[in-house]
Amino acid sequence: MTNATPSAEELDAQDPLAALRERFSLPAGVIYLDGNSLGALPIGVHERLTNVIDRQWGDRLIRSWNESDWYNLPLSVGDRIAPLLGVNKGEVVVGDSTSVSLFRVLAAALRLRGDRQVVVTERENFPTDLYILDGLRQLLPNMEVRFWDESVSPAAVLDGAGVLMLTHVDYRTGRIRDMRELSAAAHTAGALTVWDLSHSTGVLELDIARDGADFAIGCGYKYLNGGPGAPSYTWVAPALIEQVRHPLEGWLGHKSPFAFVPEYEPAPGIRRFITGTQQVLSLAALDESLKMWEGVSMSEIRRKSMAQTSRFIERVEAECKGHGLTLISPREGQLRGGQVSFAHEDGYPIMQALISRGVIGDFRTPNILRFGFSPLYVSFTDIDRAAVTLAEILRTDAWRAPEFASKQTVT
Ligand SMILES: Cc1ncc(COP(=O)(O)O)c(C=O)c1O
Repeated sequence: MTNATPSAEELDAQDPLAALRERFSLPAGVIYLDGNSLGALPIGVHERLTNVIDRQWGDRLIRSWNESDWYNLPLSVGDRIAPLLGVNKGEVVVGDSTSVSLFRVLAAALRLRGDRQVVVTERENFPTDLYILDGLRQLLPNMEVRFWDESVSPAAVLDGAGVLMLTHVDYRTGRIRDMRELSAAAHTAGALTVWDLSHSTGVLELDIARDGADFAIGCGYKYLNGGPGAPSYTWVAPALIEQVRHPLEGWLGHKSPFAFVPEYEPAPGIRRFITGTQQVLSLAALDESLKMWEGVSMSEIRRKSMAQTSRFIERVEAECKGHGLTLISPREGQLRGGQVSFAHEDGYPIMQALISRGVIGDFRTPNILRFGFSPLYVSFTDIDRAAVTLAEILRTDAWRAPEFASKQTVT
């Protein structure tokens, strides 16, 4: 290292977030670069779930709905997510998968737009977003889907549209869409915006109301570390919420669920986006993991994230030169989310070989090696070691071993 380039150890020593790593249970010998897919386990979750299972459920049984306030968990967990989105407490609710939450908000947005039943999205959007959109299109005979891509101005496709539905950070490349500019284009055209923040929340500094989101949803199991299948969050702009209705209105989104009346009346505010009984165990895990963010500055997170993704690009390009890796994430830090992706025609076996050496990233079809960097627990030393391991696998052709060729169900 020259004087101009600090060593990884120096960067770790100066890192104000470094101590947070101690609050995660990370297996020895593993460099975990997949927190953009499934976040690591926060140590407190184990004890919290043991308490919820043994004491709240086991001993107190149904009394825990009131005693432990299970009833309000979707909103109290939402209150922990609100600052990460840059919105106010009381505006976020948590429950169900992201796909289901997307269905609710998309249908709600279309309902608000009356006869403007056109949704604009990207063909490169995460597939579940497109599938949910298509499912809705099949239900609504007048609905039309239009695709936008960067080669044309958004205004060209937004004419007459009711909704612009986009994912903020692309799951393959990590490219950040300009929320403020695209939302403004949608609003000028008279459309509402629906943003999928799955790869944004917990790694970017967000201010979604300022940037023109009308509806937002996202995953709880990526940078928020809520555990496998953790419930998703939903936010609706306060100016719209009291008019909003959606097609999955269920009893726990009712104004008075325990009145048991046959007619639906929505609860005030975001509570109306609860459909059925909440996933108490999963919400408790997510609630516990979100405590990690207390006192953490999102600008510090973003600063570290950009430094880490830049360092990984720089180290991989220096160590692995001539081995066929092509960076497909934006080189400019401001345009890049918390991940770095490289294309390589043998991406799958290379990633398997890396995982076998304890460096865990993932593979996305057709040829993408994807590495996610959670600033809460990834160190600069991890980054340098991962780059060296990748270089060693490429240099020695270790990835050509037959055991790395067969595709597993989850890649
Ligand atoms: C951008 C995006 N949206 C939605 C989802 C799916 O979320 P869920 O499985 O909670 O429906 C994912 C999953 O990776 C995603 O990356």
